Amino acid sequence: MSAPQLEAILRAAPVVPVLMVEDWRSAVPLARALVAGGLTAIEITLRTPAALEAIRAVAAEVEGAQAGAGTVLNHHQFADAVQAGARFVVSPGVNPALLEAADDFEAPFLPGSSTASEAMMLFEHGYALQKFFPAEPAGGVAYLKALGSPLPGIRFCPTGGIDATNAASYLALPNVVCVGGSWVAPREAVAGGDWGHIEKLARDAASLGRGA
Ligand code: 3PG
Repeated sequence: MSAPQLEAILRAAPVVPVLMVEDWRSAVPLARALVAGGLTAIEITLRTPAALEAIRAVAAEVEGAQAGAGTVLNHHQFADAVQAGARFVVSPGVNPALLEAADDFEAPFLPGSSTASEAMMLFEHGYALQKFFPAEPAGGVAYLKALGSPLPGIRFCPTGGIDATNAASYLALPNVVCVGGSWVAPREAVAGGDWGHIEKLARDAASLGRGA
């Protein structure tokens, strides 16, 4: 875990694209379009067989991108992600084994929480930056706002159900560092190689303001 490094990666832009890469060959032009639009921290989820190869390709070939691994659930996946060149690692939630795994690696870790108790437990382990997941079903802006006063030391990257219509209301909260979401890389645009459209979505996302 490296908190300052994680903060720098996440603060570079208000939105972290969350990608489900089906074909690793699309990862490089996709990441280039996102970076051209101003989004540099890119979470590639380990939910497709192409994910590790996609991380490897983006880490090696896309200047300015910080390729991260998402949906990391165990030690094995943590190790694979780091080996592929992931600059940061994200999980949807935590368990004791995953926290132990994170201690074995230098890569910055953004662990997931969705309740006050989980957030407190992670804070106790040194994680002041957390992914609030799944943001909309778990209570959304109102829930995160309510956590701000009792848990002032914890800041979040909410993800799950966030898009261009509600991102700004999350980003206005003082305990939100950035938001994550897949809306900047729609499946049809990726499949069709419409990188210009993705760059435009990224540019709009990158121009969103932040309260924190
Ligand atoms: C995630 O992995 O963080 C989410 O599945 C992304 O959520 P979204 O598709 O609702 O943006």
